[in-house]
Amino acid sequence: MPVSSSNTIKLPAPVNDGNMSVEKALAGRRSVREFKDAPLDIAEVSQLLWAAQGITDPDGFRTAPSAGALYPLEVYVAAGNVKGLTPGIYKYKPVDHELTPVKAGDARAALSDAALGQSAIKDGAVVIIIAGVFERTTVKYPAGEKYVHMEAGHSAQNVYLQAHALGLGTVAVGAFYDDAVKKAAGMSENERPLYLMPVGRPA
Ligand SMILES: Cc1cc2nc3c(=O)[nH]c(=O)nc-3n(C[C@H](O)[C@H](O)[C@H](O)COP(=O)(O)O)c2cc1C
Repeated sequence: MPVSSSNTIKLPAPVNDGNMSVEKALAGRRSVREFKDAPLDIAEVSQLLWAAQGITDPDGFRTAPSAGALYPLEVYVAAGNVKGLTPGIYKYKPVDHELTPVKAGDARAALSDAALGQSAIKDGAVVIIIAGVFERTTVKYPAGEKYVHMEAGHSAQNVYLQAHALGLGTVAVGAFYDDAVKKAAGMSENERPLYLMPVGRPA
C-alpha cells in the first residue's frame, strides 16, 4: 500500500460499477449486528468511505447531497481488522481519497463502551464514524443544524447500501455518549459524532 511522505495512506480507487442493482440493495438491506471474526480488505474500506462521502464530480460534488454543497460531514474509520491497515483511527480525506492517521491502536472496545456496551461496535472489522462540523452549515443557513443531521442520514444510507452490495453488513448506531466517542476517536473540538457504523462480514 503506497504511503506518502506526509504519512497519509492513498486508498485504492473506488469502483463505479458493481454486481448488485440499487433496487436489490434497497430490498435486501437490513441492520446487521453480528459479524464473523474476519478481516476486511482495504479495497472494501475504500469503497465504503467513498460511498459515505466520496467525490464524484470535477467540481467537488459528492456521493451524498449537501445543503449548499457546504459539506459539513467528516468521516472517520476505526480500523480493527483490515488487511493492509494498521489498527487505529483514520480520517477520510475525500478530495484525495486517502486516509490521515489520527490515533494509533484498536479503538473498537472504547467505542463500544461509549455506545452503552453495544457489542456490534466491537465485533465489526471496522467502525465508520460520521461526524458533523455544524458551523460550516449554520454560518449560511438558520436551519443548518437540522441540515447536518439530514446529511448524516444520507451518508449512512449510502454506507448501508454499499455494504450490502459488497456482501457486508452494518448498522447505524445513534445511541452513544458524544464526549466518550470524541475522546476514543481523537476528534477535534468542533466535530460532533452523529453515527457509528460497525461494518463486517455478517455472521
Ligand atoms: C437514528 C437511528 C439510530 C439508531 N441507533 C441504533 C443503535 O443505537 N443501536 C442499534 O442496534 N440500532 C440502531 N439503529 C438501527 C435500527 O434499530 C434499525 O434501523 C431498525 O430496527 C430497522 O431495522 P432495519 O435497519 O434492518 O430495517 C438506529 C437507526 C436509526 C435510524
